[in-house]
Amino acid sequence: MSIITILGAGAMGSGLCTPLCKSGWEVRLWGTWLDDHLIDACEAGKPHPRTKVPLAKGVKLYRSDELNKALEGADVVVMSVASVGVPKITEMALEGISKGKALWLTSKGFCPNQEGKIQLLPEAIRTIARQKGVSIPPIVAIAGPVKANECAEGKPTATIFGCKDIKVSQMYAREARTDVYCIEATDDETGVEICAPMKNVYAIALGIADGLEEGTGFPHHNLKAATFNRAIKEMSLLGQALGARMETAFGLPGVGDLEVTGLSGRNKVYGVRIGRGEKAKEALAEMDRLEQTVEGVPAAGLAAKLVEQSAPHLKEELTLLKAVNEILAGTDRPVVQVISEAVLPKRP
Ligand SMILES: NC(=O)c1ccc[n+]([C@@H]2O[C@H](COP(=O)([O-])OP(=O)(O)OC[C@H]3O[C@@H](n4cnc5c(N)ncnc54)[C@H](O)[C@@H]3O)[C@@H](O)[C@H]2O)c1
Repeated sequence: MSIITILGAGAMGSGLCTPLCKSGWEVRLWGTWLDDHLIDACEAGKPHPRTKVPLAKGVKLYRSDELNKALEGADVVVMSVASVGVPKITEMALEGISKGKALWLTSKGFCPNQEGKIQLLPEAIRTIARQKGVSIPPIVAIAGPVKANECAEGKPTATIFGCKDIKVSQMYAREARTDVYCIEATDDETGVEICAPMKNVYAIALGIADGLEEGTGFPHHNLKAATFNRAIKEMSLLGQALGARMETAFGLPGVGDLEVTGLSGRNKVYGVRIGRGEKAKEALAEMDRLEQTVEGVPAAGLAAKLVEQSAPHLKEELTLLKAVNEILAGTDRPVVQVISEAVLPKRP
């Protein structure tokens, strides 16, 4: 039986345990120093506090001071912490990662390196390993429309594994598949890793359209649909500028994940607050108070930097990205006007 060690006992790390146990892996779940209360609940047999679903049977739990034990003999390591924690956890787990056959990655975000260059997460991880003189196995980027609670509950789910070596993504797509957790394989790591954080940014805009309905009492579905269309176009443009395939944004990592993220989740909820009339900064403070990390906020700023550094010709073309950043900065203009100008077709 192959051993898989998941780093991060949050919603996604724990949710992933369900299909992995079902597909025959020996699953270990390691919690960071922020996860003690989550491990407590799982050990007590209670539902996981984030997914509200009990952990799959047979999962071995490890606390933050047991990282080496959790990694010992692992065939695959899964990075499943919030993107802000990826550099630190990579450094802490580097030895264990280097001994495995693959590193899977569910974390979604961008990461500035020491020189301030914005990197996609797999590149950021490879850079850290290179700097430490450690060689690491292939990275498999995991994305697609996967809500952690539904995955935990064993509901039908489509996902995508992206590795530069297609044979590796195909192999794990076979080995982690269950009747209900079904996996596409791609070699477009870049496309997958662009869509993953960008859809969090654009889900804020979709939430704003829903919030406008709550605030005004009148639906803004037309605006929401135009926003969705624009978001996919921008993910595709940015991805292609960085070497991704166009179709990736139109598949599970783009269209699929944006649909599910725009239905529910923290980025959408944050957007609803803004659409309803709350100021961006105040709404974010309230989300923080509720321990709701809104990954789309840092991702929006980092994406703008990434565009400036690596695809400057797109700076004016990615109008929705620009609009979200204007709103997050606390624009004085009505948000409906800012989003409309960004997503409605221009006068011919
Ligand atoms: N929830 C989902 O449906 C879902 C689906 C696919 C991918 N993801 C991605 O998986 C990653 C984890 O998401 P989640 O839903 O489990 O979030 P979560 O908030 O439930 O858990 C976050 C995890 O990251 C760790 N963490 C947070 N801040 C950290 C820091 N500063 N340093 C080190 N570790 C830190 C926590 O200890 C915890 O293990 C995110 O990047 C998210 O975008 C989530």
